[in-house]
Parts: sequence; structure tokens; C-alpha cells
Amino acid sequence: TIMKVIKVANQLEGAKLGLEILTEKIAAGAKTFGLATGSTPVEFYNQIINSDLDFTDKTSINLDEYVGLDGSDEQSYRYFMSQHLFNEKPFKENFLPNGKAKDLDAEVKAYDDIIATHPIDLQILGIGQNGHIGFNEPGTPFDVTTHVVDLTESTIKANSRYFENEDEVPRQAVSMGIASILKSKTLILMAWGEAKAEAIKGMIEGEVTESLPASVLQQHDDVIVIIDEAAASLL
Ligand code: GLP
Repeated sequence: TIMKVIKVANQLEGAKLGLEILTEKIAAGAKTFGLATGSTPVEFYNQIINSDLDFTDKTSINLDEYVGLDGSDEQSYRYFMSQHLFNEKPFKENFLPNGKAKDLDAEVKAYDDIIATHPIDLQILGIGQNGHIGFNEPGTPFDVTTHVVDLTESTIKANSRYFENEDEVPRQAVSMGIASILKSKTLILMAWGEAKAEAIKGMIEGEVTESLPASVLQQHDDVIVIIDEAAASLL
């Protein structure tokens, strides 16, 4: 693999390194950023907020959104992004899938068009405990672009911590596909904590397999993996 794996002491160091790379990319002309939700990038977003970087001429495109949640819903990824980044760092435009779209097929196509007309310079990724990226669960074919996903039980469980109970977690999401994600020029995948160690080992050292979606990143030629000691503990 040609993945660049960087071990850092902790999440804060990782977030600072992420900011350094982002700053370099912006200096080199990057205009469009693929963003992720989840707890993983939160400190990175704090670093961006506290930086003097200007995003008013930049575009963001998020990986995914729950089906059925409106952007004003506190559990939606749109709301999450507003809270953790967009309210403090205004962009020219912020794209996320519309989880309330009446016609999900049309929404999926529209999102692919957005990605095609705004090629992503730098994509930020977290990783699920089962190796999912975005909401591309194990078994998702690598050639799929934006699609509607049925969430697995393990993802519903893992994400239920943001909801009152497991029943509240939407069962579906709209997610960029693996093929959409691989189109990004550069990718940064971050992971913190022991719970991610197995997925990280599989992603870096395992075979490239649809049963561990993140392993496909071995086939991309510009991937930077930033992990703390715990996430790196099985390497
Ligand atoms: C969610 C998101 C992913 C995220 C993953 C890990 O399911 N769709 O984009 O990477 O979970 O979440 P966390 O960063 O909270 O560990």
C-alpha cells in the first residue's frame, strides 16, 4: 500500500496536523472540501474555527445524511455541521444530501451531479467500527456512486448514542458511494481510540475487500491516515 500512515499522540495532535495539511492544500488552490460527521472530526473542525482560514469562497460537500431528518432536526447531519463548523466558518456553499427529499432517486442523482461539477480537492473521512466510510456498509460494491443505504444493526447501535434510544435512529441514509469518494484528489482518514483499531488494521494491512469498505483506500494514490496510539495499537 502507498497509504501514508501518521501516528499522533492524541486527537488534538491529529486535528492540528489535519489543519496543517488543509492549510497547505488551500495555499495550493484547493476550493472544494468533502466533509464528514461523527465525533472523529470534531476537534479538527474546532481547529478550523480557531484558525484564520477563510472559507467564504470555498465549497463543502458532505458524505451523507439520514433519510427522514430535516436539516433543522438536531440529529441531522446538516444540523451537526452547522453546530460544529458552518455557523462559525461560513462557506460559499454547503452541500449535504436532502434527507427529506420526496424523490430519493432524484436526490441521489442530483448529488452525483453536485460532486461531478464540484470535484473534491480534499476529502475528510472517519471510519466506522465495521470499516464503513460515509455510510457505505460492508458489502457495498466499490463501483457505486451516491446511493440510499440501509444501515446495519451495528451502525444503528453505534450511532444511537446521539439519539434518545435506538428506535429513534433512522434506518436509512443517503451516502456518497465508494466510487464518489475515490474521485477526491486527496483523502485524509482520521481515527481515534481502541474501538477503531481492528478496522484500521484491516484497512491498512488486510486485503482489499468489500467486507471492509475502507480497505479500498489502498487503491487510491493520495491517502493520508492520521491515527492515535490506540487506533494504531493492532498495527
Ligand atoms: C457514522 C458516519 C461516518 C463516521 C462514522 C464514525 O456512521 N456516517 O461518516 O465516520 O460513523 O463515527 P465516529 O466518528 O463518531 O466514530
